[in-house]
Amino acid sequence: MDKIPVGILGATGMVGQRFIQLLENHPWFEITEIAASERSAKRRYENVMVSRWKLETPIPEKIRKMVLKECQPNLDCKLVFSALDSSVAGPIEENFAKAGYIVSSNSKNHRMDDDVPLLIPEVNSEHLDSIVYQKKKNDSKGFIVTNPNCSTIGLVLGIAPLHKRYGIDRIIVTTMQALSGAGYPGVASMDIIDNVIPFISGEEEKVETEPLKILGDYKNGKFHFADIKISASCNRVNVKDGHLEAVSLSLIEKASIDDLVSTLKNFNPLNGLNLPFSPTKPIVVLDEKDRPQPRFDRERDKGMVCTIGRIRRCPILDYKFYILTHNTIRGAAGAAILNAEYLKIKGFLEN
Ligand SMILES: NC(=O)c1ccc[n+]([C@@H]2O[C@H](COP(=O)([O-])OP(=O)(O)OC[C@H]3O[C@@H](n4cnc5c(N)ncnc54)[C@H](OP(=O)(O)O)[C@@H]3O)[C@@H](O)[C@H]2O)c1
Repeated sequence: MDKIPVGILGATGMVGQRFIQLLENHPWFEITEIAASERSAKRRYENVMVSRWKLETPIPEKIRKMVLKECQPNLDCKLVFSALDSSVAGPIEENFAKAGYIVSSNSKNHRMDDDVPLLIPEVNSEHLDSIVYQKKKNDSKGFIVTNPNCSTIGLVLGIAPLHKRYGIDRIIVTTMQALSGAGYPGVASMDIIDNVIPFISGEEEKVETEPLKILGDYKNGKFHFADIKISASCNRVNVKDGHLEAVSLSLIEKASIDDLVSTLKNFNPLNGLNLPFSPTKPIVVLDEKDRPQPRFDRERDKGMVCTIGRIRRCPILDYKFYILTHNTIRGAAGAAILNAEYLKIKGFLEN
């Protein structure tokens, strides 16, 4: 099979690097273009990335010699993955979609648009119906699909089977978010060593609103948001990768703890599709009393798993537990790749 040529917008950043690493041997996609700001454009990737490549594996040989371009819609590819800074992502992604490219984006800018899917393929694939309206509005074959914020995705993947089966009406979530979530150079070392920072700009608003779109319906050309109240408190902690979240929730239809655990363990809507980035099971439930922990659990099944542990009764709501997801893989680049794989298998990349 000929591989589909893809470009990376924002290829120099934390998430852009992850795209390059994760796509190195992808069976369906091949990176043919890399782009970033005009500060980096026209330079070889290996020269721009001196002291900036922060992953444990080396820069892939083919990418080293590639020359970065500006983020203009004249790239030689069909699909672009966007890891652009949110200060610039909005108009750049629109330009690409209007010029006929398919954009799989990590940025917040278009997540809540009324014709853009905020997609987790295991949870809300029917939201892809909105693409028809987007294409019509843009008068283009191109379109944008987004993945959720890095804390939202873990929360929603972990609670979606419970919401589908029992209904959820209230959630209280406290996040402990890794440093890589702040990009590079991110938080100053003098601010985070020996410390927790109880504020991440704009994060609580995203965690309180994005799940409502994802867990809602798309019917008659409109998104109908889920009726759930969410209260989020977001913290930056001294961990490199992996967002841990303490979640308490109340169910509309009551369930025993055994039922709840088996609902989580049996959730596997993509089973049989054989998508390269789909984990064997999207949710893994641990029995150990002191897990999940970022250092030990974030890499499970290519970093694409939502790991849940310490499921127990909550004396105020119904149940409480911890959720862990790898923020730059399942929470960013890996999520956008899985979205693109899902688009391919459903025929959205053919035109
Ligand atoms: N880090 C995470 O865990 C995470 C998770 C989910 C979503 N996200 C989202 O993903 C996006 C990227 O995050 P990040 O952490 O990778 O950020 P980052 O490390 O700061 O990288 C930002 C990228 O944007 C490019 N850029 C900046 N200004 C530009 C311009 N005017 N024109 C074109 N390109 C420009 C940069 O290129 P230069 O190097 O040339 O400046 C760089 O490649 C953000 O929207 C973020 O909110 C991040």
